[in-house]
Amino acid sequence: MAEELRIVLRNYGKIDPLNIDSYIALGGYKALEKARGMDQKGLIEEIKQSGLRGRGGAGFNCGQKWQFAYMAPAEQKYVVCNADEGEPGTYKDRLIMQNDPQSLIEGMAICGYAIGANQGYIYCRGEYPYVVEVLNQAIAQAKDKGVLGDFDIEVRMGAGAYVCGEETALIESIEGKRGEPRFKPPFPPAQGLWQKPTIVNNVETFANIPVIVDKGAEWFAAIGAPAYPGTKVFTLTGDINNKTFFEVPTNTTIREIIYKLGGGIPGDRKFKAVQIGGTSGAFIPEAQLDTPVAFDAMAAIGATLGSGAVFVLDDSRDIVDVVTRIAGFFEHESCGKCAPCREGTMRTAALMEKIEAGEGANDDIALLEKLGRVMSYSCLCGLGQAAPTPVLSTIKHFKADYNAKLL
Ligand SMILES: Cc1cc2nc3c(=O)[nH]c(=O)nc-3n(C[C@H](O)[C@H](O)[C@H](O)COP(=O)(O)O)c2cc1C
Repeated sequence: MAEELRIVLRNYGKIDPLNIDSYIALGGYKALEKARGMDQKGLIEEIKQSGLRGRGGAGFNCGQKWQFAYMAPAEQKYVVCNADEGEPGTYKDRLIMQNDPQSLIEGMAICGYAIGANQGYIYCRGEYPYVVEVLNQAIAQAKDKGVLGDFDIEVRMGAGAYVCGEETALIESIEGKRGEPRFKPPFPPAQGLWQKPTIVNNVETFANIPVIVDKGAEWFAAIGAPAYPGTKVFTLTGDINNKTFFEVPTNTTIREIIYKLGGGIPGDRKFKAVQIGGTSGAFIPEAQLDTPVAFDAMAAIGATLGSGAVFVLDDSRDIVDVVTRIAGFFEHESCGKCAPCREGTMRTAALMEKIEAGEGANDDIALLEKLGRVMSYSCLCGLGQAAPTPVLSTIKHFKADYNAKLL
């Protein structure tokens, strides 16, 4: 694929993931060595200057986050990799971990050196038992080789809760507690795992780190969209010819992803909508397809980049049906800790089911909009805050689908 640019997936298919020597033969662990030759502040500055922003959804500046943890005074600090990947339609982190686990491990070790942490955890979703095996073997090989120095990594498995991808629920889960989000602040870089300064970064974020250290901040900052530089891995599902994954610079447009890389819509059907970033992403209409897949450009149209899932719907799809199923997902996955999410996801699902059954009226649409607005600013964590997005975006862009079902 000529349009692809592989940074994160640079070793995909080129190395044996279960043989550390094949990673080292392609330059692996040179970046960690280089990082250890730099002072911690200089290293963090380099990551900051690269402009790398988190690939887990929130898009926070990675170096900035590391700086908070570096500056937090503590004897013990932690590096945590968020490999929960609970977002339906997303499998980019699995691709990285299964095919190039050492990239992630090296990225985490660099972070450990930068912030002064000697212990790391990879929190991997429970549905990926085979990935856990690959990770454990890769960690054992890295330890045997002695490349990690005094940095240690353990793998912890989730048990299938979507909310455990939220960083503080994830931390609670590692601590052996029920996976529920914490009140923030304090944020994890100040008080995270066992109340110690903790960096939580996504798999894709960490996999970028060795390349940035190796090639330099300037090189990275020049790729893709200036405010969200680098590449993004996308996984394509739904009504699209190439149901697969692509890594592209962040100035690529949604249209290019669907029509060039994705090969367009199967059969003679027309495009109807695309949802980007997973279940809580906005549904995007044809008129907005020329938006680049960069964090801020997406935010400007009320959408998110999220995990990088691209879910395409052709013109035969019933938007109300799809959104009703999504509302059911959020009702099921709400942890119930805060009332706006516990009640809001339940009420949203009930209203959507009513409309889907042909029993809804215009008042129900107004209620959905009001409920969505309240949830987006009053829920404790991103799950409840973002859950109304599919509902609100489809009422805005695909109102005709709703009208067709109203009394
Ligand atoms: C409900 C919910 C689920 C999330 N799931 C994930 C996930 O599966 N993987 C992930 O990396 N981030 C997930 N996040 C985002 C994390 O809270 C956090 O922002 C991220 O791990 C930070 O890493 P980054 O800065 O490298 O993106 C989720 C957030 C919410 C609110």
